This record gives sequence, C-alpha cells and structure tokens, in this order.
Amino acid sequence: MGKLDGKVAFITGAARGQGRSHALRLAEEGADIIAVDVCAQIDSVGYPLATPDDLDETVALVEKTGRRVVASIADVRELGALQGAFDAGVAELGPCQIVVANAGIHPIGTFGDRAPEGWRDALDVILTGSWNTIQVARAQMVEAGQGGSIILISSSNGLKGHTDGSGGWDGYVAAKHGLVGLMRTYAWYLGPDNIRVNSIHPSGVPTQMTMNQMFADYTASTPPERQMRLGNAMPVQWLDPLDISNAVLWLASDDARYVSGVTLSVDGGSNIL
Ligand SMILES: NC(=O)c1ccc[n+]([C@@H]2O[C@H](COP(=O)([O-])OP(=O)(O)OC[C@H]3O[C@@H](n4cnc5c(N)ncnc54)[C@H](O)[C@@H]3O)[C@@H](O)[C@H]2O)c1
Repeated sequence: MGKLDGKVAFITGAARGQGRSHALRLAEEGADIIAVDVCAQIDSVGYPLATPDDLDETVALVEKTGRRVVASIADVRELGALQGAFDAGVAELGPCQIVVANAGIHPIGTFGDRAPEGWRDALDVILTGSWNTIQVARAQMVEAGQGGSIILISSSNGLKGHTDGSGGWDGYVAAKHGLVGLMRTYAWYLGPDNIRVNSIHPSGVPTQMTMNQMFADYTASTPPERQMRLGNAMPVQWLDPLDISNAVLWLASDDARYVSGVTLSVDGGSNIL
C-alpha cells in the first residue's frame, strides 16, 4: 500500500531536477502524474532550461515505477496552454487531488539594461505561473469533492532577503515571498473544500539552477559574510532533491491531513541565519 494510492498529482517544472524527483517520489507512493514543463529557453536565464528529452526521461522513470503519466510541454505563464495540459491529464488519469507548483527560474546576473527583463520574467514564471497553476486545477478539485493538497515551491529566499543586486534575483526573492501570500490566501479560500495549501522553502539544492557557471561566478566573487545568508545552520552545504520530495510527499499525504497555511522550511536551519 502506498501513501498516495489512487491519487493524481499535477506537477509543473517536472522535466528534471526537483520536479522530476517529486514526480518519482509521489509515483513510488502510488500517484499517477500529470507532468508539465516549458522545455525551452527563457532569454534572461543564464543557464539552460529543460529539454523535451528531459521530459521524456521523467516519463520513462515514472513508468518504471508502474504508475501512469501524462506529460505536456507547456509554459506556466500561458494560462490556456496550462489548462490544456491539466485537462488532458485529468481526461486520461481521472480527478486530480495534488498540485505541486514547482516550475521556476533564477535569472541572476541581469544587470543594467537587462534588469527589468530579469525582474519581469521571475515574477511572471514564479508568481503568475504558480497562480495560473492553482487556477487551472482548483475548479476541478472543488467539483470532485475529494479535497486535496496544493503545494507551492518557494525558497529560503521566500522568507528572507538575498540578492546579487540584479533585476532577476530581486524578482526571484519578491516572487518567492509573494508565494507565501498566495498560499495563505488559498489555504483560507479552499479550506472549506478540504483543500490544504502550503509552501515549501528549500535552501540550496544541487540542480542545474545552482550547478552552473553564473552561480559559481557569483559565489566566487561574493565576500563570505554576504554568502552566509545563503548558508545553513547545520553542517550541510547542499540538500538532496529527495529531501524536498519527502516534504512534498508528507504534505500531499493524509499524514498531514490538518496541515494547511504553513510555510515549511526544508533548509538545514537556513531560515534562522
Ligand atoms: N535549486 C535550488 O537551490 C532551489 C532552492 C530553493 C528553491 N528552489 C525552487 O525549486 C524549484 C525547482 O527548481 P530546481 O532546483 O529543480 O531547478 P531546475 O532548473 O532544474 O528546474 C526547474 C524546472 O522548471 C522548468 N521551467 C522553467 N520555467 C518554466 C515555465 N515558464 N513553464 C514551465 N516550466 C518551466 C524548467 O525547464 C526546469 O525543468 C524552483 O521553483 C526553484 O525556484 C530551488
């Protein structure tokens, strides 16, 4: 018996990194998966985003667990396309009870003329994209009357400030803080329908968002006292994607059946530094 037998989970940014890890962990516990990713580049982002091959790999790995998966290429910024991806998944897999708004970008280093673009893209993908993700799922969730769990993937940067002074990193922090307001609003609004809404706040995880030249250049050129803000209280530099996936699983499962409106830090104590 899995903790999520008979459930369907809608996960954005699922082609690789933490999104793929969430898809696999939830599938291992019995959930079928609706996977979405943009699989294309966004100009302000200084590292490659996922590819269609990455999304295919997620599909193959989920299928290996014995669960079903419906995958679509869609941009969370485009409400119509995202609705199409969600509806296609529900048509094949049945009603969805779990939503993981995970897609994100980190457009650091967008200085000068590029600052407004970095700021706008971060807000559009992270904040508007997560709002879109809730919008495409919530009517069906309420109508199905099965309750559910919506999980917004924020960041330690959603609870405390940190920036390289660029538009993109400013936007990242503002958007990740914005997710807390969105989470609290929908925890209140959907509570009567037994739909729980929470946010998760990871500190550094070694995915392509952080394992790239731009991020390495930033840390190399930043004095240690400023870098401390990115560190953890516990003696660990990087968390594993699985650490975040286990928190996603807990919030998605009945083990957390009365947990709603919570900012859950999974960060080795980064939030108290
Ligand atoms: N890596 C970290 O240190 C860290 C720390 C805290 C929070 N986070 C958050 O975790 C989430 C997952 O990031 P990750 O570390 O796996 O990085 P990642 O870059 O490997 O994964 C992000 C995924 O989102 C997809 N994506 C980007 N823009 C999209 C869009 N407009 N529409 C649909 N998909 C889109 C990308 O293609 C990619 O597959 C993000 O929200 C990120 O902000 C990451």
